[in-house]
Amino acid sequence: MAKRMLKERVFEVGAIDWDRLIFDELIPLPNGTSYNSYLIFGSEKVALIDTVDPLKRDVLFANLKDAEVEKIDYVIANHAEQDHSGSIPFVLEKFPEAKVVTNEKCKSFLMDLLLIPEEKFIVIGDGEEISLGDKHLKFFLTPWVHWPETMSTYLIEDKILFSCDFFGSHRATSHLFVHDNYKVIEEAKRYYAEIMMPFRAQIRKNLEKLSKIEIQMIAPSHGPVYPEPEIIIDAYKNWISDRVEKKILIPYVSMHGSTESIVNYLVDRFVEAKIEVIPLNLPKTDIGVLTMELVDASTVIFGAPYVLAGAHPAVVYAAYLANALRPKTKFISIVGSYGWGGKGVDQIKSLLSNVKAEFVDPVLIKGHPKENDFEMLDMLADKIIEKNSNL
Ligand code: FEO
Repeated sequence: MAKRMLKERVFEVGAIDWDRLIFDELIPLPNGTSYNSYLIFGSEKVALIDTVDPLKRDVLFANLKDAEVEKIDYVIANHAEQDHSGSIPFVLEKFPEAKVVTNEKCKSFLMDLLLIPEEKFIVIGDGEEISLGDKHLKFFLTPWVHWPETMSTYLIEDKILFSCDFFGSHRATSHLFVHDNYKVIEEAKRYYAEIMMPFRAQIRKNLEKLSKIEIQMIAPSHGPVYPEPEIIIDAYKNWISDRVEKKILIPYVSMHGSTESIVNYLVDRFVEAKIEVIPLNLPKTDIGVLTMELVDASTVIFGAPYVLAGAHPAVVYAAYLANALRPKTKFISIVGSYGWGGKGVDQIKSLLSNVKAEFVDPVLIKGHPKENDFEMLDMLADKIIEKNSNL
């Protein structure tokens, strides 16, 4: 790796992590990720915006050497999570004159998480600026993208927004700039789905705040840089809106084929009705696909066989995750097969208290579906089709 130039005296010096498969031990990363760090040379001061995961600090230091950095005055911490902040202590060790510039909340996190001493910080407030000489940085508090302390840094003269996780995509690519809009928006959607979706209201406020400045480039701390910021801003506006797609998700598990028969029957009905339907066989599905589809699906039907006197744990996990993500789903239902009873429907329903959706009567079938059961499934399908048609 080597430094890569965004604009005159503005460089990306972070690390690409081609091999990382999972984040937070939760989020699958099918395309790796990057930890972008940005180096800005003003006529008087040098600033480093965010660092890298500490496992990749050698790459950061090699790139700083390549950039012939002799001093760093300011390390800007937009976010305290360790994939961006974790190398700050190593940077402070190598550049002892550097100060960490961040907001009060982030300072508190960094002191707790990384044991950085208080005297190392310069605390800034919303809208404050610092001068690098002929370049100036302005700070905007953009909380809950995705922690309460997150902020964005704006390089006034070059009109670049350094947004950290906000607008980012988990994507390892040798391209510094976005060159394939569709792919990067898919990856950004996956990232939004997995960590930002619960905070739609706060994201709306952050977008409003940032709409007041002229942004010519967005440089996030994961994935490529956006030279056309409107593509990602428009995508975010769509994701946080109240609009849903006529799209039916069916996350399901089937142990011996009965629940699968139920799901297949419903899928055929929705296909006939020309409504998009996505069955997700949970043990075989990347859970990130479920989160992405939850961003804008109108309907979720959980397909759960009973096991151990309750709903299958894989569906319980999917329901728990969906609830934590607070999607804008409008309609929810449950189907499944049981052998001798249980409380699976109540279990799943109780896990979905954060999802403000209409609950459509479930259909539980003893064993494999029979003629009468298909009539009940038809009634459920008719209701879901009607509700989607009226959206
Ligand atoms: Fe990329 Fe919230 O860290």
